[in-house]
Amino acid sequence: MTDKINIIYISLNGNTKYFVECLSDYIKTTKDVVVESLNIKDLKGESFPVDEPFVSFLPTYLNGGNGIHTGDKEVLTTRLGDFIASNDNFKYCYGIIGSGNRNFNNQFCLSAKQYAERFGFPLIDVFELRGTQSDVKRIANLIIDRQEEFLNKL
Ligand SMILES: Cc1cc2nc3c(=O)[nH]c(=O)nc-3n(C[C@H](O)[C@H](O)[C@H](O)COP(=O)(O)O)c2cc1C
Repeated sequence: MTDKINIIYISLNGNTKYFVECLSDYIKTTKDVVVESLNIKDLKGESFPVDEPFVSFLPTYLNGGNGIHTGDKEVLTTRLGDFIASNDNFKYCYGIIGSGNRNFNNQFCLSAKQYAERFGFPLIDVFELRGTQSDVKRIANLIIDRQEEFLNKL
C-alpha cells in the first residue's frame, strides 16, 4: 500500500519544479499520501545512495540537431543521469516522466526516452512545459499504480 512517494528530478528554469509542486499538492490532498521531492539542481554535485523507491522527472535540453539523425546531445541535465547512475540508484527508480516543448518535434521529451533505454525503467508519461491540471491528475494516478507494482515485486 503506497503511503509515500519520492520524486527525484531536475529543473533548471522552474517549469518541472512547478509541475512537481502541483503534483505533490494534488497527491497529498486527494490520496492522503506523503510526497518528498528532491531537485538535483539544489545539490552541489554530490550524490548519495537512495534506499527507497522513487520516480524521476526530466525536462529535455538538447544541443542542436533534429532528434532523428543528429542532435541528441544532452546538455545541462546530465547531473540527474549521474545521480541515478551513482550507487546503483537506478535500481530503485520505477519510472521516468519526460517534459519538453512540442516545438522540438522529434526531440520532444527525447532525454527521458533515452534514460528509459539506458537504465531499463519505463517511460511513464510526458507533459509539455508546466503541464495542465489534467496532466497532474493522470500522472499522479500512473505514479501511484507504478509504485504499487514495483513494491509488489520487491
Ligand atoms: C536550450 C534549450 C533546449 C531545449 N531543448 C529541448 C528539446 O530538445 N526537446 C524538448 O522537448 N524541449 C526542449 N526544451 C524545452 C524544455 O525542455 C522545457 O522548456 C522544459 O519545460 C524546461 O524545464 P525546466 O524549466 O524545469 O528546466 C529546450 C529548452 C531550452 C532552453
